[in-house]
Amino acid sequence: MNDGHDGRVGYYLESLLDPDRKETVEREFKFDQLMMMYRCAIREVQTKLEVLNDDLGSRYERNPIENIHSRIKEPISIAKKLKKLDVPVCVESIPLYLNDVAGIRVTCSFIDDIYTVAGMLIRQDDIKLIKMKDYIENPKPNGYRSLHLIVEIPVFFADATRPMRVEVQIRTIAMDFWASLDHHLRYKKNVKDADSISAELKACADIIAQTDEDMLRIRKRIFSDHQVLERKNLWAEIDDIN
Ligand code: GTP
Ligand code: MG
Repeated sequence: MNDGHDGRVGYYLESLLDPDRKETVEREFKFDQLMMMYRCAIREVQTKLEVLNDDLGSRYERNPIENIHSRIKEPISIAKKLKKLDVPVCVESIPLYLNDVAGIRVTCSFIDDIYTVAGMLIRQDDIKLIKMKDYIENPKPNGYRSLHLIVEIPVFFADATRPMRVEVQIRTIAMDFWASLDHHLRYKKNVKDADSISAELKACADIIAQTDEDMLRIRKRIFSDHQVLERKNLWAEIDDIN
């Protein structure tokens, strides 16, 4: 069939009507629906993070979050991971075995902001913390640093409320800069001098960790506790009035 643009598109549309493909089409629909659910879960958690950022920003005149980036895992990566886990590669396996289909990466300026944001998120009534890995306290041998949370949030769909899992990675801008270069080394095949690059990256990770600590110390000297306390008092007064 020629659809005037690309014959394959026409073939695909026609195949949707083929009774022999009914089951496949239904599976594709189920997969799309599940991905929609993960996108909704991302929106729910992202909104919570944005609310925290706005509120903390207006209290302390400094936003703890620099950037929020989200992504849904690619179908090919989902399939590869299920295969690696040696579980059935089907739609039903996805919520059973994977925690990172919905992913949010939060970058903060300072290390203490990471724990402030994480703490305020996981203390919320509708958030259930499934798993936490603190690669800042315990960096990976290659130098990777980041706080990883797997959280579960109820999402209210048309027919039911479903608990959905989201992976939240929180790190400083400097850690993120490091991780993106490291990511290229991990996923690029046949990199020349991979061992010496790894060693250099590890050295950079250590310098970055030291710089993050120094920056936090300097910030604490600039923004004295006094200023923060004054703001806190202001809010306590407003709460009293209400
Ligand atoms: P995955 O199967 O890779 O998802 O790992 P996991 O289930 O053991 O979870 P973990 O919390 O260790 O890692 C989750 C994600 O963090 C990975 O998918 C990466 O996005 C990121 N990550 C973990 N370790 C590294 C690392 O050494 N370098 C970089 N660049 N990213 C990492
Ligand atoms: Mg992952």
